[in-house]
Formats: sequence, structure tokens, C-alpha cells
Amino acid sequence: MKLIGPFKQIVTLSNLSLRGKLSDEQLEIIVDGGILIDQNKIQEVGNFADLKSENQSIEIEKIEGEQILLPAFVDSHTHICFGGNRANDFAMRNAGKTYLEIAESGGGIWSSVQHTRLASEDELLKTLLERINILISLGITTIEIKSGYGLDVENELKMLRIIKKAQLETQATLISTCLSAHLKPRDFNGDNQEYLNYVLTEILPKVKEENLSERVDIFIEKSAFQPEESKEFLLKTKDLGFEITVHADQFTAGSSRIAVEVGAKSADHLEATIDEDIEFLALSNTVATALPGASLGLGEKFTPARKLLDAGAILAIASDWNPGSAPMGNLITQASILATYEKLTTAEVLAGMTFRSAYALGLNDRGKLDKGLKADFVAYKTDNFQNVLYNQGSLKIQNVYIDGHKIKL
Ligand code: NIG
Ligand code: FE
Repeated sequence: MKLIGPFKQIVTLSNLSLRGKLSDEQLEIIVDGGILIDQNKIQEVGNFADLKSENQSIEIEKIEGEQILLPAFVDSHTHICFGGNRANDFAMRNAGKTYLEIAESGGGIWSSVQHTRLASEDELLKTLLERINILISLGITTIEIKSGYGLDVENELKMLRIIKKAQLETQATLISTCLSAHLKPRDFNGDNQEYLNYVLTEILPKVKEENLSERVDIFIEKSAFQPEESKEFLLKTKDLGFEITVHADQFTAGSSRIAVEVGAKSADHLEATIDEDIEFLALSNTVATALPGASLGLGEKFTPARKLLDAGAILAIASDWNPGSAPMGNLITQASILATYEKLTTAEVLAGMTFRSAYALGLNDRGKLDKGLKADFVAYKTDNFQNVLYNQGSLKIQNVYIDGHKIKL
């Protein structure tokens, strides 16, 4: 056992509900707090002096100066395994072309597919680990990572195997998702339906066999897959035993409804979701994931996070870090900005990046500082936790802990 502290404030997020709006008065803030760790789990959180006197002769990791402690963050939606770069797309968009126009003319996702196919496994693993380390240095210790830039058996498996290899070299928890249904690749001989069949019969059984992922994602959009064929595909992936997540309502409304109907863990994007579908999401257990990094990368409107929370939805916030629509990758900056535009409380933003996004990944062992949960947390050198969002991502992290151990940043 080990006691870490004293922290000026420990924000536990304890007792916050899984769904709906939250006020900052609901935040539990332990002043002059300590956190007791047993193995890789939290044993107790409380007043440092009390914990110290109750646990004589225990190892103490002394905190110098004023620091605050939060649960580590969970980024439940990224595409950080990729080759190449899309700076040219970004410049073209800013010069007036739309994301969909660029995609239709052979740029966009397809250009990342070509770069990812050409990249060697070593190169992909190296850049993936670099990005994972950037995320850890932001306090993110659980990271979802999608395939979706391979789009054939060989290259989708290559991506998922690399993500699996990366897990052996990082202490962060990686959750992989098979996004072979990102787009029908230009070199596929057949229509959408035939491609989705190919994913079902050629890719997913191998993903299962090699234990590469338990999750399937699809991009439902005019330029990608259509609602009906997607629904059919998703129901079949469910029969194969996969959990589901969906890229929904990014530009066109309607697909979040499908995500709910098929019992998806999450529906992500939702920039174009209409009021009626907000209600539908709010009545479901499908997490509504806002991806402010994509709104910032594309200059599109933000996900209606306020409305979703008010309606009672489970709102997560994730980075969507990818080479096209969301190149920044700084979840804390993005969530802070989303808060200013959508009027989200600190509690709602912190919940969206911790236990609510963990729920979207099916993880109930993290995201709060409660007894029995994984000892992943992040310490900032400041005397007030509000400074984390106030500084919009620029407040330096003092230490990131995984399983109770400090990570070298
Ligand atoms: O979440 N919308 C589809 N997929 C990604 C973008 C991928 C890309 O542009 O490379 C997204 O925004
Ligand atoms: Fe995405």
C-alpha cells in the first residue's frame, strides 16, 4: 500500500450520474487530500492527515507544492494509427473546398488509406507510439484506436495487429475498433453492399480469430455507407459477437437513430443531429459522443452537447484525432472550447472525458477516484481544479499515474 499526497484538491467525480446534466455543486472536492493505493487500485480517497494517521508506517509519496488531482482521461474515439499527412486537405478546405468535395475527388480518407497501405509496419508502430505518448502526456491513459485506413484484408489486419503490438509497449490501455466500413475503397471491385459483405466474410472472422478487436464501427454518411445497408451490416456484426459504435450524423441527420436501434455502445459526431433524434438518444443507453476536434478541424458546428445533456443523454467527449478532420489531437483544449460554445459545466466536461467515455468503451473500472477502481489519475501544479479547463489545455501536467505509478513523460 502507498499513500500519495497531500493534494490541495482531489476532485473524485464520485456520485455523479452516468447520464444527463450535472452542476458544479455536485462535484466532490476533497481539500488537502490523499489517495491510498493498493496494488493497481484505489483503496481510499480522503483527508491526507487522517489517512496518514490511520495507516502508520505506510509508504508515502509526498507531493511538493500545490497540486490538484483528477481521474485520468479516457479518449474513446481516435484514428491515430495512420501514415502520411493531410495538410493539403486542410489548406484546400480553408481555400473553399468542402470535406465531402475533397473526399469525392479522391483526397480525404482515401489518401490516408494509400499512405497507410504503403507505410511499413515499423513506421506505423513508431508513429502510433509517438501519438500515444502525446496523449499520455495530456493525462489520457485509456485510448480507443480505430483501423479504417487499410480497407482490405491485408491492411486492416496490419493496422489492428500494430495496435495490438503497441499495447505491449505502452502502459496506457488501448481499445481497438475495426473500422473497415470507413469507406468503400476505390480499388474494390463491387458496390457498397458487396464491400460490406466482404468485411463480414473476409475481414471480421479473421479479426475474431486473431483476437484483434471486439468492436466494429461504420461511417454512415452520403459519401460513405447508406442507412439501410449499414443497419443490416451492423446487425450481422452483432451476430458475430462484436460491440458496435457508429460515426453518425456528422453532416447528415438520421444515422444516430440506427445506432440506437442496433444497440450501439456509442453514436459519435452528431453535429447534424435533429431535435427528435436527440430525444431518441437520450432515452437509450447509447452514449452520445461529441468530437469537438472534428468541428474545429472542419470549421463545422459543434455537437449539440447542451441539448443532449438537458434531454438526459450520456454525453462523452473524445478527440477523434485523425489526419483529416481532426488533426490537433488535444482533447483537453477541444473539450474546453466545446464548453465555452455549448455552455457546459466543469462537471459535465470532466464526466464526458472520464467515466462517461469509459462507459462508451464498456469499461466500468475507471474514470472516477473511488475505492476499487483503477489507480489512473493526473496531477496538475495548481491550487484550483477549475484552472484545467480555464487554461484551455495549456496548463502543464505535473504527473500522470497509471496503476498508481508515475509515468515518465
Ligand atoms: O471521424 N468521418 C469519418 N471519419 C473520420 C475522419 C477520417 C478522415 O478524414 O481521415 C472522422 O471525422
Ligand atoms: Fe472518427
